[in-house]
Amino acid sequence: MLAMVLVVRHLLPLFHNINVPRGSFGWPLIGETFGFLRPHASTTLGLFLQNRVIRYGAVFTSHLFGEPTVVSCDKELSNFVLQNEERLFQCSYPAAIHGVLGDSSMLAVSGYRHHRLRNLFLSLVASARASPTYYAQVDRASLAVVSSWRGRRTVSFCDEARKFAFGVILKQVVGLSAEEPAAVDILENYLTFMKGLVSLPLRIPGTAYAKAVKAREKIACTLERVIQDRRERGSCDESVFLDGLLPSEGFSDKEKVGFVLDALLAGYETTSLLISMLAYFLGQSDKHIDQLKREHQSIRSSKGKDEFLNSEDYKKMEYTQNVINETLRCGNVVKFVHRKALKDVKFKDYVIPSGWKVLPILSAVHLDASLHVNPQQFQPCRWEGLKNQTASSKMLAAFGGGLRLCPGSELSKIEAAFFLHHLVLSYRWSIDGELDVPMAYPYVEFGRGLPIHIDPI
Ligand code: HEM
Repeated sequence: MLAMVLVVRHLLPLFHNINVPRGSFGWPLIGETFGFLRPHASTTLGLFLQNRVIRYGAVFTSHLFGEPTVVSCDKELSNFVLQNEERLFQCSYPAAIHGVLGDSSMLAVSGYRHHRLRNLFLSLVASARASPTYYAQVDRASLAVVSSWRGRRTVSFCDEARKFAFGVILKQVVGLSAEEPAAVDILENYLTFMKGLVSLPLRIPGTAYAKAVKAREKIACTLERVIQDRRERGSCDESVFLDGLLPSEGFSDKEKVGFVLDALLAGYETTSLLISMLAYFLGQSDKHIDQLKREHQSIRSSKGKDEFLNSEDYKKMEYTQNVINETLRCGNVVKFVHRKALKDVKFKDYVIPSGWKVLPILSAVHLDASLHVNPQQFQPCRWEGLKNQTASSKMLAAFGGGLRLCPGSELSKIEAAFFLHHLVLSYRWSIDGELDVPMAYPYVEFGRGLPIHIDPI
């Protein structure tokens, strides 16, 4: 009955002459969700969006995830939505995702609760970036993974990138090494968690979703033990996050565990995917690898043999930054974000009714030909000289925007840059880009795990 009332209330604007964007609602209840989620190469918008943009324009109405929705492939509307978080729009992930992420996840809370968790996150990221140990840790971990390939001709790159990103985030957030029993436990449950996050939300025992909710609880239990242990033993000098988090006042233990989980869950898969995408795009162009290699050779030549990379070296990686930006643009690690309208919002000549879902499509900004010449081509030089933060943030939406702009963006870029440093100085590699393309399910994955052929330099 309640569901019925909600459906009718949401659809009222259609009968009140409110000028909602054009579009279609699809089937009763399921709407057009299956079409929207149909897998496609992540370097494209996918047929569902392409067809509707042609038919209705860059902003259109649909019925997705059980709710009437305005989909935005329009760079101005998407930016407007992200910049008006908490005023006109609010982060609104489906209840099923809350079920897996937990109620105290940053993506599940809003207003004051979100504000204080976010500030804490930003201050811990700032401490990490100010600590020389952090850069040395990332450098050491990159070198360890890349040198472990000695004697091999092919590697399954996604596995290696995951191994690296998991090792780094675990050390940084909770101070654990990947081989410790608690870490092995977390990784095992994490994989179950990821599978469930994108599955049908059926809380029936045995389904991927139910297993994911359980896996999250198990990770939370392991983290509680790690936190307790750390309280008893004191600082471990290697985990900037946990050492900063434990003394912070005003946060319950549940919030602290939720916070650590957020950092692990949001930071692991995204960063490893970015690194795999780098290998994918660069592996199709010797020219870009050569230019990258020159930059890293020059940085290496200014350092002692066993000296670790530091923040100054990172600042010198200018071409690397262009390559990372271009990879984020072409690869589209996160395709869209979930929002809802808090009131009727007028934008241009249409209205987004209060309570409707709004999906800013981040990949549409990246593939917009009015912003990027030949958007289908991988051209790192298009970012040259674009130092101005505002200019580049309007052209690159990979980390979202506004009050929810990804707080881990710099950490993932540092990891990717240091990994590239060792990769380009140690190997030449090539891939057959036709064989394994990154697919958006909409979470992005390389179907074959991105096998690459490597030749030591
Ligand atoms: C290539 C790497 C990454 C990409 C593409 C990415 C992308 C994003 C995007 C698009 C959002 C916005 C979600 C929204 O507006 O609804 C976000 C939020 C977030 N990300 Fe990232 N992220 C990356 C890496 C990381 C890392 C390394 C961490 C942590 C160490 C992290 C932690 C978070 C957190 C906690 C939020 C929630 C922020 C909030 O709600 O205020 N991310 N990320």
